[in-house]
Amino acid sequence: ASMEALSLSPPMSPSVFLTQDELKKIAAYKAVEFVESGMVLGLGTGSTAKHAVDRIGDLLRQGKLTNIVGIPTSKKTEEQALSLGIPLSDLDNHPAIDLAIDGADEVDPHLNLVKGRGGSLLREKMVEGACKKFVCIVDESKLVKHLGGSGLALPVEVVPFCWKFTANKLRNLFERSGCVTKLRNDCEGKSFVTDNGNYIVDLYLKKDLGDLQIASDAILRIAGVVEHGMFLDMATTVIVAGELGITIKNK
Ligand code: 5RP
Repeated sequence: ASMEALSLSPPMSPSVFLTQDELKKIAAYKAVEFVESGMVLGLGTGSTAKHAVDRIGDLLRQGKLTNIVGIPTSKKTEEQALSLGIPLSDLDNHPAIDLAIDGADEVDPHLNLVKGRGGSLLREKMVEGACKKFVCIVDESKLVKHLGGSGLALPVEVVPFCWKFTANKLRNLFERSGCVTKLRNDCEGKSFVTDNGNYIVDLYLKKDLGDLQIASDAILRIAGVVEHGMFLDMATTVIVAGELGITIKNK
């Protein structure tokens, strides 16, 4: 991956301590600079992507962008985009997307990602897999050496039918990495249900995932699994906002 460091001009001066949310916003606004009128846009999900969608809405309202079609990656993003007046469509009607902008939970040095802590990984993978360009936007806390090794979960979307059976299969697969599986709950303590009516099993590993493609294939071979949160070789650009400025990494 090539890297390009950009200096920040005030008020984004490095001498000012920035919150994580401000860093997310800086990355998001930078990504929206890649958006051109007439584009079909994949609209990501999460607190970082939300800033990008807000910004696209602002530019549309100001007339600086025209003729945009958004393809949302979740019901939440769909609601946000509709409230901002962003015209929306779906993959059935727009199977080729010019550019998608979305966050991530982990980014490795090869621009492989873990996504899905927000629970939208299936639609995100479908939309971002249909893009010419996928710009991932993160603050620097998301950078890791190896996916799955940061103590955070690798989310796996599973069908509700006998989810414990599927979770056991997943745990057995990564037994040597000290894998613990947890069914994700919502804020009321009930099973979290995805936009597609499925559950999320989070995998917590004591070691990293090893060969990512092998891990990915093995997870997808389990019959109750719908999709997992590893996005391998999908991001074409990652924009990282840190206290010292913005770094743009290209594939
Ligand atoms: C949702 C995602 C998000 O992009 C990811 O969880 C990052 O979220 P945030 O921008 O809130 O840190 O994959 O499914």
